[in-house]
Amino acid sequence: MKVKIHTLFQYLLETTDAAPEAIVGFSLAESPKLGAFLADLDPDLVLDWNGRDFRGLPELRDHVLSQAGLRSVCKIEDVLITAGAAEANYLAIMQLLQPGDEIVIETPGWPQAEVLARAIGADVIKVTRQETDNWHLPLDVLASKVTPRTKLIFVTNPNNPTGDLLSAGDVADLVKIADKVGAWLLVDEVYAGLEWDGPRAPSVAGLYARGITTGSVSKALGLQGLRTGWLICPDPGLVMDAVILRENSSEIMNIMGEVIAEVALRPERYKQAMEKARREGAANLAQMNQWVAKQDGLSWVTPRAGLIGLGRLPTGIDSDAFARVLLAEPYRTFLLPGSAYDQPSHIRLGVGGGAQVNLQNRLNRVAQALADRRR
Ligand SMILES: Cc1ncc(COP(=O)(O)O)c(C=O)c1O
Repeated sequence: MKVKIHTLFQYLLETTDAAPEAIVGFSLAESPKLGAFLADLDPDLVLDWNGRDFRGLPELRDHVLSQAGLRSVCKIEDVLITAGAAEANYLAIMQLLQPGDEIVIETPGWPQAEVLARAIGADVIKVTRQETDNWHLPLDVLASKVTPRTKLIFVTNPNNPTGDLLSAGDVADLVKIADKVGAWLLVDEVYAGLEWDGPRAPSVAGLYARGITTGSVSKALGLQGLRTGWLICPDPGLVMDAVILRENSSEIMNIMGEVIAEVALRPERYKQAMEKARREGAANLAQMNQWVAKQDGLSWVTPRAGLIGLGRLPTGIDSDAFARVLLAEPYRTFLLPGSAYDQPSHIRLGVGGGAQVNLQNRLNRVAQALADRRR
């Protein structure tokens, strides 16, 4: 089995050395500094593994259930701490899928499930979110693509990259669709908690025996570098399978990640951090909406949640070509072309980075490049 590179990562690799002066499209809240946690860290902490549980620190797993509103329906044993939501997705997909199984995924969507499924030799069935339908996941289409061979349905809620949001009713319908054929249902909630238009949907791990919820401290809390996330599933066999695979890759959790994430998710601290992330994300989003409205030919469906959305470029502009022009002199500005998501007429616009990000200055550069392109 060999995992192939996906377009999104290829673009990041190719452009790492470009040293842009500005980045448009921050996809996470402002990242706190280590100093913000020092007062709560124990200098006598032994830097071995946590020594208590291979699924992660129990108090951290308890906070994970609390932030997802799952404390009354799931047990701490249902939670596995992982190296980010990325590892949580990886462990579930690799242990569930066999060659010839079908996996149903959304497009545009987070590319991880597709590259892993293809490496395994599973059949990838795509459900298209249409821009004309505000990128909403068409559940009737999805239902028509689920068959007795469907082993896993993988979606993101909120959706990366469109910021669309499934409602509680949508998630309940997804559960019914999966249950009909006994499929596993993985809902990646890495952007949960940043809903702008509608409430946070319930987590599928609390609704379905084969429901898997993945998430992390990376986005709303900005703690991406901690590499700390989770998988929640009421099926002990699935959690154990994930522990077994992880034992053969990263073996155990990164103790600093666990300890700092535990502090970050303490209820009062978490509440304050989320209030800040929501306040600053909403302000940046309002600014982005105004900016998009002023650009000739550029449009977007305002994200209903999360920190990213897809902007449609003026007719005739290819996203790859535009992103590369923007990266070069005189703009020196990085943004992700929509081609990373099979959307070559779009660019990814982000409203992360918090209040200090100076979005206007960055957007002025993009506006200039668009104006120069028209000349
Ligand atoms: C939908 C989605 N899932 C997973 C990840 C990986 O996040 P983490 O840093 O938690 O591994 C990302 C990161 O961009 C994402 O957008």
